[in-house]
Amino acid sequence: MEPIERVLEGAFDGKEVSLRGWVYRTRSSGSLAFVTVRDATGVVQTVASKKDMADEEEFNALKRALVESSVEITGMVNPDERAPGGRELHVTSATVVHAAEDFPISKDKSDEFLLDVRHLWLRSREMAATLKLRSTVISALRDYYLGEGYYESQGPMFVGGQVEGGSTLFEVPYFERKVFLTQSSQLYLEALIFSLEKVFTLAPSFRAEKSRTRRHVTEFWHFEIETAWVGNDGMMDIEEETIRHVARRVLEDRLPELEVLGRDPEALRAVEAPFPRMRYDEAVETMQANGSKVEWGDDFGYEEEKALTRDTLVPIHVHHFPKELKAFYHRPDPAEPDRVLNHDLVAPVVGEIIGGGERIWELEVLLDRIDEEGLDREAYQWYIDLRRFGSVPHAGYGMGVDRVLQWLGGIEHIKWALPFPRDRRRIYP
Ligand code: 4AD
Ligand code: MG
Repeated sequence: MEPIERVLEGAFDGKEVSLRGWVYRTRSSGSLAFVTVRDATGVVQTVASKKDMADEEEFNALKRALVESSVEITGMVNPDERAPGGRELHVTSATVVHAAEDFPISKDKSDEFLLDVRHLWLRSREMAATLKLRSTVISALRDYYLGEGYYESQGPMFVGGQVEGGSTLFEVPYFERKVFLTQSSQLYLEALIFSLEKVFTLAPSFRAEKSRTRRHVTEFWHFEIETAWVGNDGMMDIEEETIRHVARRVLEDRLPELEVLGRDPEALRAVEAPFPRMRYDEAVETMQANGSKVEWGDDFGYEEEKALTRDTLVPIHVHHFPKELKAFYHRPDPAEPDRVLNHDLVAPVVGEIIGGGERIWELEVLLDRIDEEGLDREAYQWYIDLRRFGSVPHAGYGMGVDRVLQWLGGIEHIKWALPFPRDRRRIYP
């Protein structure tokens, strides 16, 4: 059995080849059947003629096979300019492995319906392109950090404390008590740097997002790194290089998929330019100049971030947010303690794709912030402990992988960027 991709490359022109896959389209007239077949790598046109096939029953079964039937087909590869992909397979034998029932997805189905049948819609060209892009992005991230001397590690998903604010915490019954699903693995990665110095993880994070937006899901894939001896500026440098590395890999390996998604590769080439960096204050001014009603002191949402990136293809780093807007662990800038040494990376159209910064590493400062936020010291005892035994400056970030996909693929809504999206209403399929 050969991948269809190899057939389309011309590796078997004029020769016999066997392939297997699923019926993509089918049409017949009399003693001819035109069956396009897809596998994970491509789509090829086949033509079966009753007289050319040794077994008439095989011909009849192939001719009857409905869309999405699974098939094994052997035939001669004929280069033919009129055929899509430039070649056509003249079938000599065919097995219908499983004759599909009437496939429920035809043209022009609503988004809601396509979500209901997501387990089947994954077979579409658009979803397959997205999933391949996703696989490339994830492997590019892994390769990059392993190459930089990072270790991959894991935190727990059941946790006892919040990371990113109580309003989006999922509570779950856990034997005789209640615990939470983690919002971020960050705090655990912080513990790990004292052993490994440079760590990353790829794990789901959970947020009880009540409102439905085009960039929020309740379970998202979170790529997080944590690095000893690095500060806020250093972390922004790392992020820039990371995004560049990922974009290059996508441009090398996934141009056909970008085309399926209708994404202009220029948007990805643009990241070769330096990413602008601006303080929170300057970001507010830029948003206002671009028509946003945002005011100093506001947190940014989708509309504000869209205004910020209105005139750029390059993501923008925004740093030095007011302390009140950010989680307890961000390190206040010793030079201006009402600001934190943090940053968001804001991409065009999608908005925030990364949040990160320097962590408080001084015991007293951390205790103050925990108290100030009204958090329970008890739940964070282990985290506080890290500031008592050889604490070091350190920084990290968390990237929403699904949002990065959205941005790289030009995908309008996050629910098309991951295979089985979850939101407030949907946990099926
Ligand atoms: O900005 P956030 O909340 O930061 C943290 O969780 C830090 N603890 C990360 C760290 O420093 N290790 O989340 C990080 C990123 C956001 O920039 C966004 O891309 C994504 O996670 N994200 C979501 N993506 C999809 N749906 C949601 N509900 C998301 N919430 C956050
Ligand atoms: Mg954030």
